[in-house]
Amino acid sequence: MNIAIDGPGGSGKSLLARNIARKLGLIYVDTGALYRTVGLNACRHGIAMDDKAGIVASLEGITVELKYEDGEQHVYLCGEDVSGLIRSPEISMYASAVSSVPEVRAFLDGMQRSMVARGGVVMDGRDIGTVIMPDADVKIFLFASPKQRAERRYLELAEKGENVTLDEVLSDITKRDRADREREASPAVPADDAVMLDNSGFEPKDTFAAAIRIINGQLGTNYDDVL
Ligand code: DC
Repeated sequence: MNIAIDGPGGSGKSLLARNIARKLGLIYVDTGALYRTVGLNACRHGIAMDDKAGIVASLEGITVELKYEDGEQHVYLCGEDVSGLIRSPEISMYASAVSSVPEVRAFLDGMQRSMVARGGVVMDGRDIGTVIMPDADVKIFLFASPKQRAERRYLELAEKGENVTLDEVLSDITKRDRADREREASPAVPADDAVMLDNSGFEPKDTFAAAIRIINGQLGTNYDDVL
């Protein structure tokens, strides 16, 4: 079974995908971490976010790998574990910028498809249901109002000690939403056969329960025991 979860930043995709993976015995693949890692590399080389040629050149000779350690996904850039360095607001904007470059998408495509081919994955991202796993058994497009998503992201960042305001987070989320949705290469839009799930006002457990109901409804399974 392969499950695709797409949606904008702060919708709670990662938490939902991680919970589904844990409870249903699947492997969680956070594809945003791959774009964030390419973004971190571009940032470290001082490449401007709108310098497409520079971004393409920055791919030369780099390796990006996913590894699983104690059940958690770690992402490696040229052998260095950068998992803890890719969640800052600056790298979020870099990730969005590099993700609009077709060469970057092509660079990360094979790795994602080989994970899908192994089977048993819950993958989250922007183009999973449309491009990476068009044949996924279940596709969920998770979203919430921009204000709610900004509040969630703000709390996460504040907990990590990042010095940001709610207004800055809301402005970044709105910019990133538009750029991700309106780009030409694999835009962040729902697949035609995705189930839309609006989790505005939901706690994580409500989102999980709603997703399990969707999975049961689509596959005819009965996973109510994991709730
Ligand atoms: O899910 P995230 O916030 O970690 O993703 C960071 C950026 O990466 C996001 O702004 C768009 C891009 N991305 C993408 O284009 N395709 C994916 N499958 C996942 C992420």
